[in-house]
Amino acid sequence: MSPLDLVIAGGTVVTAADSYAADIGIRDGRIAQIGHDLTGADRIDATGLLVLPGGIDAHVHLDQPTSDGTTMADDFASGTRSAAAGGNTTVLPFALQIRGQSLRACVEEYHRKAKGKCHTDVSFHLIVSDPTPQVLGQELPALVRDGYTSFKVFMTYDDLVLNDAQILDVFEVARRERALVMVHAEGHDAIRHLTRRLEAEGRTAPYYHGQAHAQIAEREATHRAISHAQLIDVPVVIVHVSGRDPMEQIQWARARGLKVHAETCPQYIALTADDLRGLNMDFDGAKYVCSPPPRDADSQAAIWQGLRDGTFYIFSSDHCPFRIDATGKDTPRARSSFKYVPNGIPGVETRLPILFSEGVGKGRISLQRFVALTSTNPARLYGLYPQKGSIAIGADADLALWDPTLTRPIRQADLNHGCDYTPYEGMEITGWPVRTLLRGRTIAQDCVPVGDPTGGHLSRGTSEAFA
Ligand code: URP
Ligand code: ZN
Ligand code: ZN
Repeated sequence: MSPLDLVIAGGTVVTAADSYAADIGIRDGRIAQIGHDLTGADRIDATGLLVLPGGIDAHVHLDQPTSDGTTMADDFASGTRSAAAGGNTTVLPFALQIRGQSLRACVEEYHRKAKGKCHTDVSFHLIVSDPTPQVLGQELPALVRDGYTSFKVFMTYDDLVLNDAQILDVFEVARRERALVMVHAEGHDAIRHLTRRLEAEGRTAPYYHGQAHAQIAEREATHRAISHAQLIDVPVVIVHVSGRDPMEQIQWARARGLKVHAETCPQYIALTADDLRGLNMDFDGAKYVCSPPPRDADSQAAIWQGLRDGTFYIFSSDHCPFRIDATGKDTPRARSSFKYVPNGIPGVETRLPILFSEGVGKGRISLQRFVALTSTNPARLYGLYPQKGSIAIGADADLALWDPTLTRPIRQADLNHGCDYTPYEGMEITGWPVRTLLRGRTIAQDCVPVGDPTGGHLSRGTSEAFA
């Protein structure tokens, strides 16, 4: 057998199942040996460090067009550099279909945007905004067979919302093709009604975004999505779940044996609706405008419970970065009403440190659960396992080396994203990734991206939700 290219020596290997002291031997970009006293051409001393499967962020938005022409702060280069610095080795961005556009043309366009720029591996989810007979009958089935095995539908946003009949049609295709549907569950009409009322009352500051996107509207849509999925008999993922009310609908579904998976995100454990007040109900609150919005302390507690008890299967960033300056969120229109503030916040680089520090560090979740939520489960759910999300012989050598004792705050000045702020400025973190390896090559060290872009696009298999 040829010698090992690289040995990660002396660390504590952590998987979704266990932790143990071992060296990891890498050959040709894959894990070739796990054992003791391994030798290879190169060596990284991991004494005192944890060796985890690289993070898989299953929900990011990069280089996506917006309906009002606002430019997203990250393209595939800056977004994946930022991801790598934050301990990730794979991200799943969206290829967003603009109404009237062929889904196939849309996917090709995203491949052009990503080509040669990716510092992590990427794999596209599709966003279906225009489910024409051509899309449902030909394009979507063909794309699923080509390895795009998940797609997202929206129950709100003027330019993306599908009505119930369209959602049912998309679910039928998903069931037939064994593709996984991700649902943005917020009730469009309820949000529009509340928005009109708030505006009529002169309540137009970013803070009121949180009131317009009421948790009741999220709860209602979550139940509707679940009911539609039950009717068609198809598994679904409710993405970016923000609080107790929609969680109860998911638990209701599970208790009846329905295949409903759920995702939550850092903003729902680290931010609250009060953050949208800004400094004094001013435009600073726009830094926290995302949908669904952060809720209250009770919902934060419910989310932690859900991360512990399995209500949530995955923890993603929903990285959707817009700068807070005039090129992003701060426009005259956005200052005239919260409804024009681009929705979304950055988070691909801070997702893992926040969950590690607040979750593992504060004893809320185990290390195993951390790995499951952030790497192994996303790989399983989206058809990448066991090539990704595991530390096992034959798996890609995608690894994140963690210093569980390193303490420093999150600072915009230290981040690598294209955004000009972080909503988590000043948050004290203990436990940072100190080295990220993609197929055995270092892509970030001490939270700084390293080297040329070597990531590629991954074609995915069928979700384990169909097993
Ligand atoms: O506000 C958010 N989350 N924007 C991103 C788009 C989405 O709905 O995921
Ligand atoms: Zn969404
Ligand atoms: Zn999103």
